[in-house]
Order: sequence, then structure tokens, then C-alpha cells
Amino acid sequence: MNFVILGSGRGSNADAILRAWKNGDLGQARPVAVISDKADAPILALAKDYGVSALHIDPGPYKTKLNEEAEGRYVETIRSLEAELIVLAGFMRVLHQTFVDAFPKGIINLHPSLLPSFKGLHAIEQAWEYGVKVTGCTVHYVTGDVDGGPILEQKVVSIEKTDTLESLEQKIHRAEHQLLPAVITRLSEEMNSST
Ligand code: GAR
Repeated sequence: MNFVILGSGRGSNADAILRAWKNGDLGQARPVAVISDKADAPILALAKDYGVSALHIDPGPYKTKLNEEAEGRYVETIRSLEAELIVLAGFMRVLHQTFVDAFPKGIINLHPSLLPSFKGLHAIEQAWEYGVKVTGCTVHYVTGDVDGGPILEQKVVSIEKTDTLESLEQKIHRAEHQLLPAVITRLSEEMNSST
């Protein structure tokens, strides 16, 4: 199963995925590229360190979404890479229906809360400020409903009295680094057994 990772930032989840792949822990899943909307994103340097193709694709004029032309560029590039799965690992732009429809059940997203709670930006802070006692992270299929697609897996993180926002962030990131590679492995196994 060929997959691409899309990310906008530091890429700690891409690091966890690519480390698992290098260690032979990702089943039949194979990264074909890491793509970012930001030319200087650390996630692209990280991809190169792993010998994986690192691509910047111009996202167009908006800050939190892609315009139609940009969606076209992303879709065309991903098709040319023959990717069967698109993994959003900190890709901070909303995808519209054209993109989503181009890859039905082919896009998964990582979100740092137990969806459907705390959708949108700053999910860890939202949970912290609300005062919940458990939160966590979710991997779900991407649909036109932002952070609302079918849930694949979740991992629970408890908030203890001794936690701070910073320690909670660390706990959630550690959980994400286990969850996302595990889901990719599961999907590659499922794809393998259905062919
Ligand atoms: C992750 O915590 C991921 O859950 C979050 O961005 C972070 C990326 O970190 N995604 C979202 O908030 C999507 N709404 P990373 O660049 O270190 O992998």
C-alpha cells in the first residue's frame, strides 16, 4: 500500500511513521512522498533524512484552506504518485469536496482529541480549558464534514491533577505517535487481505 503524508509543521507524527517503516513495523505500507503546503516546514527536511521524496505544493492564497486550483495541483500530484492512502499528519488546511471526492475512503486524519469532542483548531487547549478528565487522539476518515468522518481508532489519555497543559500536550503526542502508525499498518493489512 503506497501512501503519502501531508503535513504543515514539525512532523513528529511523520517521524513516528517513517521510523516504524524503517524498522519494518509498518506491514506492507510504503511512503512514496511527504507533501507540505509550507516550503520551509521541518516535516520536509525530516522526509529527506529518511530518503523519502519531499514536495512543497503551493497552497494558493488562503491561510486555512486550498483554493480550487491548489486542490487540483494536490490531487494531480498524489494521483501521479499512485498513492492509495493519504495521511494527514498535522496538515492545517480544510479539504473541500473536490479533494475528498477524488479519494473516497482514501484520506485519513489525525486529530488531538477524542472526537466528536473538541473539533477544530487548538483541540488540546479546548479540552484542557473545558476541564475534562480524559481526552486523547483520534484517527478518522476524511469526509466533507470537517473532523466529522467515520472514526477508525482512538487512544485515551487521562488528565491527572499534576498535569499542566504542556505535560498533557506531551502525553497526547506520545499517544498519537503510537496510534497513527498502528492505523496505517492495519489499513495496509486490510488492503492486502482484500486483494
Ligand atoms: C498533531 O498533534 C495533530 O493531531 C494535529 O497537529 C499536530 C501535528 O504535529 N492536527 C490537528 O490539530 C488537525 N486539526 P506534528 O507536526 O508534530 O506531527
